[in-house]
Amino acid sequence: MTEIPEHLLKRSKERRGESGAAATTGAAVATTQTAAAVAATAPAGKAARTESAAPAGPPPTKPDTAVVVAYKARKKIPAWAMVTLSILPVWAFMYVRALQPVTAQAQGPLGEGAAVFASCSSCHGAAGEGIGTAYAFKDGAVMATFPHIEDQLRWVKYGTEAYVAAGVEIYGDPNREGGARIAGASGGVMPAAAAALGLTDVEILAVVCHERYTLAGGDVTGVEYEKWCGETSEIFLALEAGTATFANVHEQFEGVLQIGEAPLAGTAADV
Ligand code: HEC
Repeated sequence: MTEIPEHLLKRSKERRGESGAAATTGAAVATTQTAAAVAATAPAGKAARTESAAPAGPPPTKPDTAVVVAYKARKKIPAWAMVTLSILPVWAFMYVRALQPVTAQAQGPLGEGAAVFASCSSCHGAAGEGIGTAYAFKDGAVMATFPHIEDQLRWVKYGTEAYVAAGVEIYGDPNREGGARIAGASGGVMPAAAAALGLTDVEILAVVCHERYTLAGGDVTGVEYEKWCGETSEIFLALEAGTATFANVHEQFEGVLQIGEAPLAGTAADV
């Protein structure tokens, strides 16, 4: 503990003795003096104070102009409308996409064949029901004439006149139930799909797939369907790409009968 010298303790005691009112009065005097000093320097100080205080205080309020009044009183866009507007580009994107036509890629042979069949339906009927001399396809009728799709492809491509001119009578199964079909025997003329109707090999395959599987009700789980008419048919894709034609498809793919470049006699079911 530090010893406090005697003379300091004495001075302290004396100070405390004159405390209370005297001390308060002293303080009051000091305050008054300070106030007086401030008052004395007022003219110069006032300007300085006003300057330095200005940035801290609230900005002076000017009356709004007519434009500002109108702006503040305007009708504001509600929050829900803002949300709706913000998703508008997404909606527009989806809408435009929905308008795109379905591409041939998504259609496959059957989809394309249904479109090509517009070239045939005036004679054979929209459902392949047959009209006059143009035979029906439905209920398996066309499969009875052509157990092999290749014979039908050839017949459709070249038509009645070419077969008659080539002296090829039987265009389908020679053992057909109810009798073999003979070119020209119906009394009508089947136009050549290629020369007369302007169809390409791949379009002819597509329309024949439509006749066999959509109209005649062929077995879509069978080997022939997958090989020729399924969406992933390699033969269809090769014809579409132009890497194969009816003239050479039998050389490029296993187990394919010759379609050829001219009429040929039809093949029996058991071949
Ligand atoms: C101008 C009318 C006409 C048009 C168009 C027509 N056909 Fe024919 N089609 C016939 C006639 C008539 C026969 C019978 C031919 C005969 O007796 O020589 C026939 C026969 C057929 C046969 C044989 C059916 C069987 O069981 O004997 C097939 C398959 C065929 N047509 C497919 C088509 C396809 C595919 C198209 C369209 C690309 C088409 N036809 C367009 C009139 C037409």
